[in-house]
Amino acid sequence: MGNSFKTLTVWVMFAVLLLQQAPVLIRATDPDPLQDFCVADLNSEVTVNGHPCKPASAAGDEFLFSSRTSSGGDVNANPNGSNVTKLDVARWPGVNTLGVSMNRIDFAPDGTNPPHVHPRASEIGVVLCGELLVGIIGSLDSGNRLYSRVVRAGETFVIPRGLMHFQFNVGKTEATMIVSFNSQNPGIVFVPLTLFGSNPPIPTPVLVKALRVDAGVVELLKSKFTGGY
Ligand SMILES: *[C@@H]1O[C@H](CO)[C@@H](O)[C@H](O)[C@H]1NC(C)=O
Ligand SMILES: *[C@@H]1O[C@H](CO)[C@@H](O)[C@H](O)[C@H]1NC(C)=O
Repeated sequence: MGNSFKTLTVWVMFAVLLLQQAPVLIRATDPDPLQDFCVADLNSEVTVNGHPCKPASAAGDEFLFSSRTSSGGDVNANPNGSNVTKLDVARWPGVNTLGVSMNRIDFAPDGTNPPHVHPRASEIGVVLCGELLVGIIGSLDSGNRLYSRVVRAGETFVIPRGLMHFQFNVGKTEATMIVSFNSQNPGIVFVPLTLFGSNPPIPTPVLVKALRVDAGVVELLKSKFTGGY
């Protein structure tokens, strides 16, 4: 009797503790850092949730600065008409464990950052030059609503974690934006590539049924995405 009462008390305390922590767990994206910084050792063979730290002596202040966003890539080198200059942990080891990262994206006129999702981060961005149509599609909770606006130089936007979104250059000149994420490694799921360029491919009958088109249409779309872009 006494013992089972003790067991019950322990379980109740455990449940209360768990509930107290729940809001924190729900808000969390990347885990909180336990030290000032932990410059990623990208060559380590140790696999952890992130990357192990370089020894402090090998982590100079250059790891906390980057000039990659000072210039953009070639926007005409691929069919999207855009070029992403990534600054996630793989390119900027200094952000390891800090729960942040950035991208610079340049767009040709009519260039697009195709519909995609970041599974691990919300995104906040500023347009540096040009005019970008930014579209965000809500989940079914919103009735699948498209939220969109032409965002111009100096203006900003925010994209909730996990929602599908795109940018499209509606201006006559090149456009550039800088975006930040609340994850060192936001991840990206491109919708066209996911549906039509997976490896191995999604069986055609699945896509025929899901998209309500002929197999020929599915095969045509698949042929556009074999090999990445
Ligand atoms: C982005 O631009 C760089 C040149 O700045 C080029 O080497 C690279 O291939 C481009 N990337 C894509 C995917 O088009
Ligand atoms: C272009 O878009 C496709 C998805 O439509 C994506 O798979 C590919 O990585 C993109 N390429 C570049 C260079 O951004």
